[in-house]
Amino acid sequence: MANHLLKLMDLSEKEITDILNLADQLKYEKKHGIEHHYLKGKTLGMIFQKSSTRTRVSFEVGMYDLGGSALFLSSRDLQIGRGEPVEDTARVLSGYLDGIMIRTYKQSEVEALAQHGSIPIINGLTDYCHPCQVLADLMTFREFKGNFAGKKMCYIGDGNNMANSLIVGGIKMGMTVAIACPKAYQPDAEIMKWATENGEFICTEDILEAAKDADVIYTDVWASMGQEDEKAEREKVFKNYQINDNVMAVAKPDAMVQHCLPAHREEEITAKVLEEHAEEIFAEAENRLHAQKAVLVKLMSDK
Ligand code: CP
Ligand code: NVA
Repeated sequence: MANHLLKLMDLSEKEITDILNLADQLKYEKKHGIEHHYLKGKTLGMIFQKSSTRTRVSFEVGMYDLGGSALFLSSRDLQIGRGEPVEDTARVLSGYLDGIMIRTYKQSEVEALAQHGSIPIINGLTDYCHPCQVLADLMTFREFKGNFAGKKMCYIGDGNNMANSLIVGGIKMGMTVAIACPKAYQPDAEIMKWATENGEFICTEDILEAAKDADVIYTDVWASMGQEDEKAEREKVFKNYQINDNVMAVAKPDAMVQHCLPAHREEEITAKVLEEHAEEIFAEAENRLHAQKAVLVKLMSDK
């Protein structure tokens, strides 16, 4: 496996499977009180330029579980927030830490940290992608459905960071991927081209076409972090891009629903569908912990 987790496109199907297998093992060990201090004495720095509940807490607890420690570094307090170049920050932090998780806007900033630092870099969400979330999503899908081959993933909503990573993760694992979104809000064009060339992929404006016979239906917020000023306009554009009973009626009868959270009830998902699928959705949130611990061990352990 590469030395970093910058985006899912960099991982092979086998590398993803290895992470998921280790994540399952770590989840089992945690549930059974089996200590797994694979990162004893190691420190992860966590740089946040955007808010977070799940990513922050799961990485911090994950490092603790693995025998190491984590530092929360808000960009408001770092010199990076006052313009210190990422190239310099990378070289300085490489002297103190054993790994960095960063949540920021530009993917290029994450890539620059990896290029100029000498320790593993983990992407904790950019405007372009959210690989840690989708590793947890794949883990959850496999937990509930057993395997990926021939299964259909549907995503309804904004062609954002989640859509980009779900397409890559779904196609790499052999799933059919169907995206429903407004024309002007499609996922990354290069990712869609790659998906078309490498698997079964459609992108349509028709939510029922995308949801038909799906094994899992995903959605995400209509306005992502950093798009707050577009909120009113997006509420109009995405009005019909919602997971509700009509959508669930055309999916497979045992279809799962997934949401990376936070959710906006009665916007991208009805409160009714969310509560009916709460078990799967909160298992997905919990699996952030286990999947990320697997990534931390793969990237930071000496073994
Ligand atoms: N899903 C997710 O990344 O949640 P947070 O923004 O709370 O980290
Ligand atoms: N697309 C959302 C995901 C939040 C976890 C955002 O970027 O805000």
